[in-house]
Amino acid sequence: MKQSVKLVAGNWKMNGVAADLTEVAALRQALSDTPPACRVALCPPATLIERLARDAGALIETGGQDCRAEAKGAFTGGVSAAMLKDAGATLVIVGHSERRQEFGESDALVALKAEAAIEAGLEPIVCVGETLAQREAGEAVEVVRRQVMNSLPLAAAGRPFAIAYEPVWAIGTGLTPTLEQIEEVHRAVRSAMIERLGLAAATPPILYGGSVKPDNARDILAVPEVGGALVGGASLKAADFLAIIEAA
Ligand code: PGA
Repeated sequence: MKQSVKLVAGNWKMNGVAADLTEVAALRQALSDTPPACRVALCPPATLIERLARDAGALIETGGQDCRAEAKGAFTGGVSAAMLKDAGATLVIVGHSERRQEFGESDALVALKAEAAIEAGLEPIVCVGETLAQREAGEAVEVVRRQVMNSLPLAAAGRPFAIAYEPVWAIGTGLTPTLEQIEEVHRAVRSAMIERLGLAAATPPILYGGSVKPDNARDILAVPEVGGALVGGASLKAADFLAIIEAA
């Protein structure tokens, strides 16, 4: 089955103020000198979305890191999908493990957020991934399968979206699964996507995330069913992120 073009997305998490947009300018310049073979996105803190979207140029897409499931209302501090879109975002990460763990976000809530994103015209990147205890108990594939089935809204069929497989124990630790383990989970994610949404789910990219760096990106991005990367720490500096983009 034909895969869609790879997507390399940077997740700045709670890092970045206006001064850091110099990294975006550097990235933009490098990409316009040598156009990338993949799609490139940056997901800055919400406070920077509008400025980043304005400065990023045509080759860098802008994303949010989370959205509320509701369209509007009395949710102090909340940001809706339509607000992200209004600020210039075209994508949004939902269900990142830091939100699942710190804020107790369930698969059902993640599915509602992904659905809200789709309704607002955003491309959700729906994150899944097992904990170390689940990996050690031999449950990684089953856990991730269940997360895909329950976090992916039926409304995603035929609409742009991506899944990101991010083992919780690999995020920010410098640890990564073996290439065989990545392939095994990505294949399971694909079959769960198709089980959930039918053949419409045969092509949306499945990103790998968790300690992707310039020195491991090429091998990881060459694994069958790896359709891109979700990059945290290494997306903060243009030079590192560019090296990952060039590996795609
Ligand atoms: P990391 O983060 O690349 O710093 O491990 C990845 C993520 O949390 O998306």
